[in-house]
Amino acid sequence: MFSHVHQSRAAISRRSIVRGSVALAGASALGFATRSVHSQTAPRVRMDIATFAQDAGRLSRFEAALKQMQDASAANPNDPAGWLANANMHRDFCSTPGLNDPTQIHFCWWFLAWHRAYIFVTERKIRQISGDDSFSYPYWNWSTDRRIPAAYAKHGSSLAKAVRFTPNRGLSDGEVGLLHDDPAIEQLGVAALGATFFEAKTADDISNSFGGIARPNAEDAFDNNAIEGTPHGPVHNYVGGQRGNSVGDMGDFETAGRDPIFFAHHGNLDRLWETWRRDPARKATEPTVDAFQNHAFVFKWLDGTDVQVPMSDILDTTKLGYTYDSLDVNRPQAIVMAQQAAPEPLPPIATQKLAVPLAQQGADDGSRKYLEITGVAKPDTLLTVSVRVKPANAPASDPGIEIGTFAAVKNGGRIEWPSGRLAFDITNAARRFGGQEITVELIPHRLSPEADQTFPPLKYDKMNIVTKRR
Ligand code: C2O
Repeated sequence: MFSHVHQSRAAISRRSIVRGSVALAGASALGFATRSVHSQTAPRVRMDIATFAQDAGRLSRFEAALKQMQDASAANPNDPAGWLANANMHRDFCSTPGLNDPTQIHFCWWFLAWHRAYIFVTERKIRQISGDDSFSYPYWNWSTDRRIPAAYAKHGSSLAKAVRFTPNRGLSDGEVGLLHDDPAIEQLGVAALGATFFEAKTADDISNSFGGIARPNAEDAFDNNAIEGTPHGPVHNYVGGQRGNSVGDMGDFETAGRDPIFFAHHGNLDRLWETWRRDPARKATEPTVDAFQNHAFVFKWLDGTDVQVPMSDILDTTKLGYTYDSLDVNRPQAIVMAQQAAPEPLPPIATQKLAVPLAQQGADDGSRKYLEITGVAKPDTLLTVSVRVKPANAPASDPGIEIGTFAAVKNGGRIEWPSGRLAFDITNAARRFGGQEITVELIPHRLSPEADQTFPPLKYDKMNIVTKRR
């Protein structure tokens, strides 16, 4: 049970630490998380921040605990009980190692699992510091709330203490993964939820997988899985934004964990993992191999000691002591969000004409078509781009059909661009445009509060349409 954290520090260290960093299997894996969560109390419910903030006392206990951690870091950046030390755990797994380092937890099958464990550890720290035993970290439902929620944006609040150059606009449908062309995809709310399998078996599969590729893997491949690509990346870029050469905390993996909204953003992604798993057929596609199931992640507790969170707990949120208030993508309509006019689109940073192969008539063979862009050159600024298609003879004013969005996030001051290969499901649009020529346009999104943001042309080697069967 978790009561041990209310005891002395000595008791904490005796029970929960695994010294050193290895030996992730067997008895040593039964560390912090496992013991802590088999508690007699029912799991806490993680709430949408809109609901969480309705209780002013609850919100102020959260703010006070966060402030205490931020103040501890201000007094001593190395204080293990501080917020910076907590944020730096993300840097150490995400930014410091190279993209294909064995400890890197982005661009592979650890993406969802590691962030789940990281939110869990952070949540437990705040629960302890706040003394609020019912605390769980409130998530940001960006499908419904297209701007930073008030509680995370309130001037002077510890929940808003971060470097942010958020553009003065709301997130677009494409940035949160809502695509309208194919009704089956549209009704998912977040297109990535359409992924039918967890683990990518080949490099080619990564962008349509829900969970990513094994690390290590035979091809030495690494890239964004479906949800990691969008909405994960675009929401990072939106919150962080940039002004001149400065990038906000959320726009760079090195600093992202410093922004309290990081855990609210990843909380929502974590919630969507459960949404996806609600279909038992999906859950059944999660890897059963030991390399995945018997892994454990090591984090630092408030006293600087190591704590482990094993995959056996990660794969069942009730073992980690929480559930979600809802697994619906959108919050029920009862709370109506302010709509806003879409801002003027920026001019395309790439335009290409492409012949769409004639769609076969008759039986649907289950194959899907993808617009594939390869050899994409790294931009040198944050970038979030919508991919739109329209008939080649359509007027310039025709916005076309959005088939996807991609984002380049920074990592230690440099742009992350795992493979330079992007793929977007174009099945439905290709049916409509079969046998015709289309224009593909890459439209950047504003990522700055500055009025005049321009982006240089995006360079790439090739754009074409490929058919895949699974
Ligand atoms: Cu580890 Cu959203 O980044």
